[in-house]
Amino acid sequence: MKFFIDTASLDEIRAAAELGVLDGVTTNPSLIAKIVRDPSNFTYSDFKEHIAKICDIVDGPVSAEVTTLKAEEMIAQGEDLAAIHENVVVKCPLTVDGLKAIRHFSQQGIRTNATLVFSPNQALLAAKAGADYVSPFVGRLDDISTDGMGLVEQIVTMYDNYGYLTEVIVASVRHPQHVVEASMIGADIATIPYPVIRQLANHPLTDAGLKKFMEDAAVMKR
Ligand code: G3P
Repeated sequence: MKFFIDTASLDEIRAAAELGVLDGVTTNPSLIAKIVRDPSNFTYSDFKEHIAKICDIVDGPVSAEVTTLKAEEMIAQGEDLAAIHENVVVKCPLTVDGLKAIRHFSQQGIRTNATLVFSPNQALLAAKAGADYVSPFVGRLDDISTDGMGLVEQIVTMYDNYGYLTEVIVASVRHPQHVVEASMIGADIATIPYPVIRQLANHPLTDAGLKKFMEDAAVMKR
């Protein structure tokens, strides 16, 4: 299973990369907005520079999202984003226009991530249009009392039934149990916020055991 980090923070990306468990990065406009100190001075060119910095840190797919709604505009922006670095994956919303853009990119050999996916049929369309990745948002479905991980299970089954190569990125991950469930279902990737990546390493029995080992080790002469 691959782990991506779901953030635009360079510090968090570096910290996760140091753990040796990082296979890629996903960003979106909201994650970019979080790291911008002065929005009035943040330009599209700053955004592209930021994506380039992420690509310098991680040798793996880096999703950069288009910020337009029309297919032609997504295509123009996506081609521009893809030119930043070979690892850039163009993230397009799963809309009718997004599908047109995904089809175009797939024919051009530009990798895509279909995002804001909330239904099995959206995921089926993403695969048929040639998306390299599909991102079901489990946390946001859970938020509205719908089974987010049930959607992942449906997508994995559908893709297996027909041999689609589109990789499933479990997104909108909120806690460690989402990661466990994603891996039990056989999702290809979980994109995880940095605090949750850290939580994966924690267990109270590890802490308690370590405390006792340290106390017992203290009797030894240095
Ligand atoms: O990868 C998608 C993710 O950034 C959305 O997460 O927590 O805003 O639903 P969240």
